[in-house]
Amino acid sequence: MANLGAVQLNYGCGADECLRLVENLEANALILHINPLQECVQSHGDRNFRGLFPKIAELCQRLPVPVIAKEVGNGISGKMALRLIEAGVAAIDVAGAGGTSWAKVEGERATDAQQRRLGQTFAEWGLSTADCIQDIRTLDTKVPLIASGGLRTGLDAAKAIALGADLAGMAYPFLKAAHESEEDLYELVEILLAELKTVLLCTGTASVADLNHSQFVNAIFY
Ligand SMILES: Cc1cc2nc3c(=O)[nH]c(=O)nc-3n(C[C@H](O)[C@H](O)[C@H](O)COP(=O)(O)O)c2cc1C
Repeated sequence: MANLGAVQLNYGCGADECLRLVENLEANALILHINPLQECVQSHGDRNFRGLFPKIAELCQRLPVPVIAKEVGNGISGKMALRLIEAGVAAIDVAGAGGTSWAKVEGERATDAQQRRLGQTFAEWGLSTADCIQDIRTLDTKVPLIASGGLRTGLDAAKAIALGADLAGMAYPFLKAAHESEEDLYELVEILLAELKTVLLCTGTASVADLNHSQFVNAIFY
């Protein structure tokens, strides 16, 4: 899946360029990340988010592959999800708050005092992953939902799926393991699988898919 900042649609990367990008990469989907807070804290960030919805809608119509929308760690609300679904996106990754904080990263990277201060102020800001999933699942839509942002264990993944997500994603744990060794990466996958299987066995659930919106949501949480 190719990945591009949605704001780039306002900075010279239009539907034609995206089409070429997807074709050149032979991508199966285009993920658009919507990251206003990151761009605000980033020194010289791209902050013109005006008029993006019609451009996203055009993209969804013209691309031969699905367009997926995501945040990068500050969450997507039900209201925002609705507008994205109306624009034609095929799936949403809420990428909520609670894990990797790009405000923190960009603040640390910044060399000027104002951007550093912005990063500190907004370090923990955003909608939590759990709140986003629950909010979007109150909508009258079955849009495929990916939960990411702060998930660290197979139990976290099971909780997110029990709340209504279809898939669970993790960034930081995989990057941390990969930074050590390839072996650590495989070990992480084994641990995550063991944690998921433990949830399934202890709740008498046949498959991960059966966890989705399951009656065991209370058992899994407490
Ligand atoms: C080092 C790093 C690089 C990332 N780069 C991107 C990116 O290029 N595009 C994107 O959509 N999200 C990117 N993300 C955000 C993740 O996909 C995810 O939404 C966010 O980090 C929350 O998940 P986590 O708490 O498991 O890290 C990146 C995350 C990390 C840690």
